[in-house]
Amino acid sequence: MTILCDVFDLDYNLAHGVFFAEPGFDPGRKWALFADGEMKTILTTTPLVFGDSKAIGIAGVATIPSARGQGLAERLVAEVCAVSEAQGVREAILFAKRTDLYARCGFEVVDEVVRGPIAAMGYSEAAATVPIEQVEHLYSEWCDESPRRLRRDSFGWARWKFNLKVCESMGLGYGCIEGSTMREAVFNETLTSWPVPTGTEWYGLRTLTTELGVPGDMAPAELFLMGRNCPEPPQMFMTDQF
Ligand SMILES: CC(C)(COP(=O)(O)OP(=O)(O)OC[C@H]1O[C@@H](n2cnc3c(N)ncnc32)[C@H](O)[C@@H]1OP(=O)(O)O)[C@@H](O)C(=O)NCCC(=O)NCCS
Repeated sequence: MTILCDVFDLDYNLAHGVFFAEPGFDPGRKWALFADGEMKTILTTTPLVFGDSKAIGIAGVATIPSARGQGLAERLVAEVCAVSEAQGVREAILFAKRTDLYARCGFEVVDEVVRGPIAAMGYSEAAATVPIEQVEHLYSEWCDESPRRLRRDSFGWARWKFNLKVCESMGLGYGCIEGSTMREAVFNETLTSWPVPTGTEWYGLRTLTTELGVPGDMAPAELFLMGRNCPEPPQMFMTDQF
């Protein structure tokens, strides 16, 4: 916890509550590498399911500044992947700004995150809020269309609901807007502008952004999705970023 706060510049008191209250909190998924009696490197894994296939997500990789450059993060990531594989979960994914460390552990870039203003129709009246039961139903129908889409079980939905999200009606689907950012949309219509408020920004994986036909100029967000033993690029909304 202290390493995480120091390395990622988080306020310990604020982060403490969130860290332990987060639905995904599981001490069995917190990994640490010790040397000379000191915790040097940490990371967290998240259980994921794409179609019928299990994977792990890796996040929060951090080494204390005094121990960097000694190969410790590489060793911990490699070890976590090896243990996961031995348990039958071969696929691993992670989001990274820099790819070099993870490339050395067998990861390759499988997609990238893009962002940009959505070409918007603007609202003439407030869009209807979609009840959560309907959102779950629509998402699960969407998910069933491809074996590479991230499934949300009760744990996945608990994580998803942990931060306030409002889903608004878009045709027969919905869009999830947080502030002025849309990170999730289940919407099948191909339109040159979307029924969202002017100024709404999209943030999503490029493959999915293209498949959804999100209208607007999208630029790389300098964040890559990397995968190890990925049969095909996984599809997930950035609302599920771990
Ligand atoms: C990234 C980090 C975990 C690497 O830890 P480490 O124990 O020094 O890693 P290793 O010794 O195994 O490998 C070092 C190499 O990782 C790579 N690297 C450095 N920073 C990196 C980063 N932010 N992301 C990915 N790779 C990185 C470089 O190739 C580096 O080699 P170099 O020092 O010759 O440039 C550490 O620098 C850190 O805690 N940074 C701050 C937190 C962070 O950015 N985490 C990554 C989140 S995706």
